[in-house]
Amino acid sequence: MKVSHNPLRPFGRVVEASGDAQISDIPVETLARWAVESRVLVLRGFSLLETQEFADYCRRWGDVLEWEVGEVVDLVVQDDPKNYLFASGDVPFHWDGAFVDSDPRWFFFQCLDATPDAGGETVFCDTTAVYRDVDEATRNVWSKISLTYSTEKLAHYGGEVTEHLVSQHPATALPVLRFAEPLDPNVYKNPVSVTVDGVENDAQELFVKELSERLHRREYCYDHAWQKGDILIADNFSLVHGRNAFSGPTNRHLQRVEVI
Ligand SMILES: [Fe+2]
Repeated sequence: MKVSHNPLRPFGRVVEASGDAQISDIPVETLARWAVESRVLVLRGFSLLETQEFADYCRRWGDVLEWEVGEVVDLVVQDDPKNYLFASGDVPFHWDGAFVDSDPRWFFFQCLDATPDAGGETVFCDTTAVYRDVDEATRNVWSKISLTYSTEKLAHYGGEVTEHLVSQHPATALPVLRFAEPLDPNVYKNPVSVTVDGVENDAQELFVKELSERLHRREYCYDHAWQKGDILIADNFSLVHGRNAFSGPTNRHLQRVEVI
């Protein structure tokens, strides 16, 4: 099978197949290597999988996280959502699985339907690059910081969790950031609040704001505009991710599986 590799900017890779390609035509070890190197790996020209097949395929990569709704979460915009993930607004940066015991290593998406030029790009930030570019003094401050996140369980997750800001990638040993942006209760359904341990009370808000701004710098972010048929594999440790707001009506339908 012939595939072409094209770099995305500022990071990521698209692997495109022509003809009747199946994801299982490429060994998992090969795909995993590409995904570690690229952090975001997009496969185009590969057949999509039936829902159960999709979960079973992901199991080849590791244990699959089971939510109350099952192993495969359908992401579509809902008319009257209880949670901001299913609304049409933006989704601030977070990593997946913050509120579950096991830390997903990978997440997989397949795009069953998409509406071009209607916004809703998934935005990935490479936190290893953010960490690489800060000075020693900042690294020193960050090393002492933990953040506590809390949210009510109205969708498939909820609770309270405390995480060190700086963590270590389980495969590459590179420093990574674990950070989720707070969600303003006036703007988002099912908001998340954040407190910072290691920063004075009156400086917490500014710390979170500045960190957020740094992560959103264009040199660290890849925006993925979905095309129907895309399969995307993302490294949940190196990255945080979010979504741009939709700019118009959308038929977008993604399915997502988390691999531990
Ligand atoms: Fe997510």
